[in-house]
Amino acid sequence: MTALDFPEASAETFAARRRRVLERVGEGVMVLPAAPVQYSSRDTERPYAPDRELYYLTGLIEPGTVAVLVGGDEPEVVLFVRERDRDAELWAGPRPGPEGVAERVSVDACHPLTELSERLPDLLARGDTLHYRLGRRDAVEDMILGALATARRRGPRRGTGPRGILDPGQILDELRLRKDATEIEALRRACAVTVDGHRAGAAAIAPGVGEWVVEAAVEGAFRRAGATGPAFDTIVGSGENACVLHYVRNGDVIGEGDLVLIDAGAEVGWYHGDVTRTLPASGSFSQRQRRVYDLVESARQAAIAAVRPGATIRAVHEAAVRTLVSGLVDLGVLDGRVDDVIEEGTHVRYFPHQTSHWLGLDVHDPGDYARNGEPRALEEGMVFTVEPGLYFPPDADDEAGREYAGIGIRIEDDVAVTASGCEVLTAALPTAAADVEALVTRATTP
Ligand code: GLY
Ligand code: MN
Ligand code: MN
Repeated sequence: MTALDFPEASAETFAARRRRVLERVGEGVMVLPAAPVQYSSRDTERPYAPDRELYYLTGLIEPGTVAVLVGGDEPEVVLFVRERDRDAELWAGPRPGPEGVAERVSVDACHPLTELSERLPDLLARGDTLHYRLGRRDAVEDMILGALATARRRGPRRGTGPRGILDPGQILDELRLRKDATEIEALRRACAVTVDGHRAGAAAIAPGVGEWVVEAAVEGAFRRAGATGPAFDTIVGSGENACVLHYVRNGDVIGEGDLVLIDAGAEVGWYHGDVTRTLPASGSFSQRQRRVYDLVESARQAAIAAVRPGATIRAVHEAAVRTLVSGLVDLGVLDGRVDDVIEEGTHVRYFPHQTSHWLGLDVHDPGDYARNGEPRALEEGMVFTVEPGLYFPPDADDEAGREYAGIGIRIEDDVAVTASGCEVLTAALPTAAADVEALVTRATTP
């Protein structure tokens, strides 16, 4: 293990995940190619990030790999891997080659990638369905489609061959939705590093400081703590910039009375944190800012209180919405009965996004939020964000909205469903207004 490696799932855990796929794939065949290598400056390899599905099933971070999982009476997992290449390894680092991969991943066979086109038709012909994500439009996809055509041509004579193509997510999204113990541990670690970065970012905040300086503090702390980098482009939005949901320019200077919204997460061992805090640049909220802040914080608490097995993501969202709407009515921003406002959706102007998304190997992790028209019931091991917010457009044309115009506040935590409720993975980073003020002032006062 090198200094920046983090412990990951055991070989047996990866093998158990492959067995679960083989059980679900029936008589089908699943093909998972590795993510392509990305380049910048025309020919310079970017740090390699694995395809999440292939990683989930093998732990491999090896470009060029293709995994073939054959279901049925004699299930088989076959890997195709780039061969060793002294010249290429000089520039881009060592490759394990098929032998090296076979030592680490207990599959039925591990062949050189050069044998893929020859072996693939026979492997595909063993299934009635091909589980493959169309759309790569590259040489591997051409090979897979060619092999599919060959397998189907032979089908009438052999009586076998795939008849349909399904997205692998149909099986894998469901498995990835319920995190196992290793994954929960990986997420705890990513969240702990994320919290470190936020503390460093809060400490860098002061009037007159560039948003980019806060971004650098956050991301510097991520890297120091062993993150591969940010999970997504870090958002540091001061003043009205906080009302732009995916503001990433981070190019303005923080003003005296501004709020500063930091939405940032660390990627650690390919798992992610995703946290937002909104802090006062001066170290104390104005009364106007504090009213909105406390309301968003109440919504966060109400939403988290709704997380438990058997509840639904929709119920979590509804808890946030109800709290926000009732507070906005109290503040005089919205008019009418809470139920009527929710029914009419007037509040969406101020809270335009959902409260949650799944979190894991992807920041916006896959998985259906509803099934057969019904909101999905939460189960132990599901991990998601809770991120209510209120954004008052700077150019509000109504009197009620004008009082708070230009204020944008989001508070985002990450939670894992437990047997009886939930674990807030990011609880180490405070959310109460006074504690958030202290994150800024403790850093600037002796
Ligand atoms: N940072 C992106 C999100 O919160 O979904
Ligand atoms: Mn976020
Ligand atoms: Mn999020």
